Amino acid sequence: ATAEKGGEPHFMRKEILEQPRALRDTLCGRVGLDGLPRLEELALGAGEARALEHVELIACGTSWHAGLVATRHLAELARLRASAEVASEYRYRPALPLGAEGGGKALVVAVSQSGETADTLAAMRAAAAGGARPVAVVNVVGSSIAREAEGVLYTRAGPEISVASTKAFSTQVATLFLLAAHLGRLRGTLSESGARELLAALGRVPDQLEAMLPEVAAQARALAPRLLDKRGALYLGRGYGFPLALEGALKLKEITYLHADGYPAGEMKHGPIALVGPQTLVVVVAPQDRLHAKTLSNLEEVKARDGFVVAIGTEGDRELARLADAVFWLPPAPEPLNPLLAAAPLQLLAYELSVALGRDVDQPRNLAKSVTVE
Ligand code: G6P
Repeated sequence: ATAEKGGEPHFMRKEILEQPRALRDTLCGRVGLDGLPRLEELALGAGEARALEHVELIACGTSWHAGLVATRHLAELARLRASAEVASEYRYRPALPLGAEGGGKALVVAVSQSGETADTLAAMRAAAAGGARPVAVVNVVGSSIAREAEGVLYTRAGPEISVASTKAFSTQVATLFLLAAHLGRLRGTLSESGARELLAALGRVPDQLEAMLPEVAAQARALAPRLLDKRGALYLGRGYGFPLALEGALKLKEITYLHADGYPAGEMKHGPIALVGPQTLVVVVAPQDRLHAKTLSNLEEVKARDGFVVAIGTEGDRELARLADAVFWLPPAPEPLNPLLAAAPLQLLAYELSVALGRDVDQPRNLAKSVTVE
């Protein structure tokens, strides 16, 4: 059994550590020799891309969080209004025309690791019935969602066995990022030089991750015993950091059974701050970005209430180090790529706490890898 786990004690750890390899596979052949995005799998013409007015991402669980990251990439790179909706809501919402009758202006993207999630499949069918020609971002080749979609972008994460999704998430984020860059080029909202710069930085992410993972893993292991008295956790972030906060909180809930909430840091004052005290773990996703100063001021408020702060920040950030009880350091990267680097520390933190608490890491209670019934 350890052999199939690549010598690791759990599939989850193996899959977290595999992310550099998985991301290299995701990118393979999708960046041209000219350094620009190449997504020929997606038969989408420049005319169609220019006519788009919005993008609707539909997904469940971790895949929904990847969709939320993508809404920000689509706005920034392709100047597209985008929403990410939970599939179980999307499928039952009042039907709005999406296709030619609706002006042909919406691109619907189903995001799923397994390609078999019942709600996501049903939501995709509802979008198709409304006139959309949905595309899918899927890991499992030949799965139901992949077969029914009009176009598929495979994430190429490889088999994911652990119920808690890890490499599927980062490869979804990378695939959706490529989609946003591709649409940005087709729509003329992303310059050639801007695209080259971002894609070159994207190409460096697997190496950056590979370099940081051993230290992050060791740090998470050392930190876990200090967190055993925590009653619950609040995950905070702004911008690209907010969906990461949701994903970090989900990972913790899934495999430690501790209560955890993900919140936009700016929303903390509207409720969650009432929970902050010495027994609250506060995890903040705070890499160097446009909103950094604002996130730090939220942290000051957490510190004033004796919350235990674990931060994820960019190397060299002294201010963050001063405010946090522990910091996972990320190498510098363009803001839109921070999610690809910040996911692993969140995953390893949840993993080590789950191990320290003696939980069943790979097969947490009440959860299934793929939910094929409603
Ligand atoms: C289940 C899994 C999650 C996953 C979600 C969506 O709840 O436990 O890890 O994110 O389904 O699955 P999908 O295969 O559609 O991405």
